[in-house]
Amino acid sequence: MENVVKFGRINNKNGENNKMSKVLVTSALPYINGVPHLGHMVGCLLPSDIYARYMRMMGNEVLYIAGTDEHGTTSEVGALKEDMNIQDYCDMYHQRHVQTYKDFNLSFDYFGRTSSEQNKEMTYHIFEQLDKNGFIEERAIKQVYSVDDKMFLADRYITGTCPYCGYEKARGDQCENCTKVLEPTDLINPKSSVSGSTNLEVRETKHLFLNLPKLESKLADWVKTKEPFWPDVAYTIAQKWLKEGLQARCITRDLKWGFPVNKEGFEDKVFYVWFDAPIGYIGITKQWADENPAERNWKDWWLNASNVRHVEFMGKDNVPYHSITFPATLLGTAENWTQVDYLKGMSYLTYEGGKFSKSEKRGIFAEDAIKEFPADYWRYWLMSNAPEGSDSSFSFDSFAAVVNKDLNGVLGNFVSRVLKMTASKIGEKIPEGAELTTTEQDLIKNLQIKINDYFKYMNAMEFRKAMNELRAIWVEGNNYISVTEPWTVIKTDKVRAETILRVCINLIRIFAILAAPIMPSVSEDIFKRLGLTANDMPILKDFDVEKEIKMLKAGKSFEIGDALFERITPERIEELKQQYGSKE
Ligand code: MF3
Ligand code: ZN
Repeated sequence: MENVVKFGRINNKNGENNKMSKVLVTSALPYINGVPHLGHMVGCLLPSDIYARYMRMMGNEVLYIAGTDEHGTTSEVGALKEDMNIQDYCDMYHQRHVQTYKDFNLSFDYFGRTSSEQNKEMTYHIFEQLDKNGFIEERAIKQVYSVDDKMFLADRYITGTCPYCGYEKARGDQCENCTKVLEPTDLINPKSSVSGSTNLEVRETKHLFLNLPKLESKLADWVKTKEPFWPDVAYTIAQKWLKEGLQARCITRDLKWGFPVNKEGFEDKVFYVWFDAPIGYIGITKQWADENPAERNWKDWWLNASNVRHVEFMGKDNVPYHSITFPATLLGTAENWTQVDYLKGMSYLTYEGGKFSKSEKRGIFAEDAIKEFPADYWRYWLMSNAPEGSDSSFSFDSFAAVVNKDLNGVLGNFVSRVLKMTASKIGEKIPEGAELTTTEQDLIKNLQIKINDYFKYMNAMEFRKAMNELRAIWVEGNNYISVTEPWTVIKTDKVRAETILRVCINLIRIFAILAAPIMPSVSEDIFKRLGLTANDMPILKDFDVEKEIKMLKAGKSFEIGDALFERITPERIEELKQQYGSKE
């Protein structure tokens, strides 16, 4: 039983593991419209990056893929509002996403687009298989058409008065005030929220549906095989959906922006954004492969691929799509697609106790965050406070406290103290000293336990717990130097003091290695001070503290450098609160 929990169900209940060498990591594809805020970062992008980096450091072959989710009404409306041509709008926002993720140090192997030719090809192929296998059916549905806007309106783009509570700004899909689920035709005095026009008509149009009920038993069998592997939350959500019975889903829309449907009689419609978006994982992999076809093959990862473990990261609202709708879509093709092996669903991050809101200028967006502090500060805070299990809240007070205490007070302080002390007492090189004593043997034992726990939680994608261990590992360094007191010992036993400092500098190296998936730049910075490069990064698998603590040998020079982290003052916190909005 132990194993199941320990390794996040990478192993099955017997502890067997036959899918380890190739790891396919995906993050839910962020909507193109708008720029990401911290909630988006921690909801799927950042944890997927940390996991991908960690898996690479463990010696696995990793492919880490994401991209912008570009189709649908929201993009059309967004382009309209900014008075832009939709293609230009998407090109511009795609670049902004790319830049932001680069600034946040996300290590995608490829960040593509759901609107790519490759994804179109993939979407058409999958649709054709579904159609051929009898899972696509035609139905006539009634939809609201806005004569002035010259478009069919998605339910949520129609507003009016709620027939139940009289709320005047109810949306066509749901009343925000009384939470009743609505049909657009229920609304009193409906109008288009695109233009405000009330010139609306209900028109009947033909659409294509994915017959999920027909796939239900096949899907249920497949989901069942995932029970030993998926986290409980995801498995429970999937089971709940299956129990309630699946409904056929409309996969086409009367829009212009999207892939034109490749079926006779439907050419003037496009595929629904949620149909082509998850296929984007595959389409984007093909974008990646097409850039270097001599060396890369998308099928190695997706079609009849062996030994691929597919791990998906997403916000919890995305779990049903990834555990039910998309797997069913792939099953319906009767082809052997790589399906999700593990899905990590994250809860939400709130901002100073409320919602992030672009229009109300509340909350810090990733583009701004990076201008205030280096990415690693954010990465560390976000993962230490990751909304796992329940929601968590961002506040500048908490952010500053974590930066000042954990990063400055524990890690930064240890690094500068050790390097400065060594430089002033001995010189800017690793001291010689003598053999390790039982004090060091105890340290090694304690560290090995904590490091194994850190790996255990990283494997299990339990990030908060992993961050706790990482911090505890840094604390071990501080405890060691407090107990051994090299500054006192040096007065009577220089050789012993040298030994202690040599061990401390080796600890710095170990800390930098372990922090690398979370704070890649800080890690690199520390390595540089120690005269090391990325090539000196060891494979983490079978990480042996006894061996690693002896890696830096006497005589090798180092540099002290500036403080690793900046302290955030109370005045600065106030300024930030003012600038980005806070309840207080
Ligand atoms: N764009 C969606 C969201 O942000 C996620 C799409 S995930 C995909 O909620 F797999 F469908 F692409
Ligand atoms: Zn209502």
